[in-house]
Amino acid sequence: MELVFCTNNQHKIQEVSAIMGPHFHFLKLKDVHFFDDIPEPFDTLEANAAIKANTVYFFCNKNCFAEDTGLFIEEINGEPGVFSARYAGEPVDSMKNIEKVLRKMDGIANRRAFFKTVITLVMPQGEWQFEGVCHGQISTEISGLDGFGYDPIFIPDGYDITFANMLPEIKNGISHRKKAFDAFADFLLKCKL
Ligand code: IMP
Repeated sequence: MELVFCTNNQHKIQEVSAIMGPHFHFLKLKDVHFFDDIPEPFDTLEANAAIKANTVYFFCNKNCFAEDTGLFIEEINGEPGVFSARYAGEPVDSMKNIEKVLRKMDGIANRRAFFKTVITLVMPQGEWQFEGVCHGQISTEISGLDGFGYDPIFIPDGYDITFANMLPEIKNGISHRKKAFDAFADFLLKCKL
């Protein structure tokens, strides 16, 4: 079956390709001639994942999935949360986002945080959501070159290095995205889609 991955984020495409393996094929936005920005206007991951998938579904009339991810930090009321991409303003700049987090967390002992990914799948038969969470803590300094976004300051539980210091296959074996896409893959297999 054809499924369109509704994202312009090359890092997500790489990670999802690695997580789902070689037998899972998806179309990219350019394959369905969708060249607009995808809106993310809401204040929940669920609503943003849903509007991304539905926007492209109504454009191309093919089965679509989209994901929205946020980093939620306990001691600063769940920030940056659903606003993770633009936490330090426009244009999107991961290093500025990281610096803002580290400034806000300066001197704070409780560094508990989690990443959450929500996937929405839209097909003619209906709409489904899947989620994955990865708990950990915010490091006190930037470390590592791999990964993307907040990876240089997130240390997942059970490890003492950041996502950005891990081999991609280690991050992709334990991440929020891995858990969400495992649930997504289970659903596709059970439905024999
Ligand atoms: P969105 O899901 O495209 O809205 O991304 C939200 C923000 O979270 C972006 O700034 C990403 O860089 C960041 N982000 C998403 N997934 C990850 C991840 O796996 N690791 C680190 N940062 C991430």
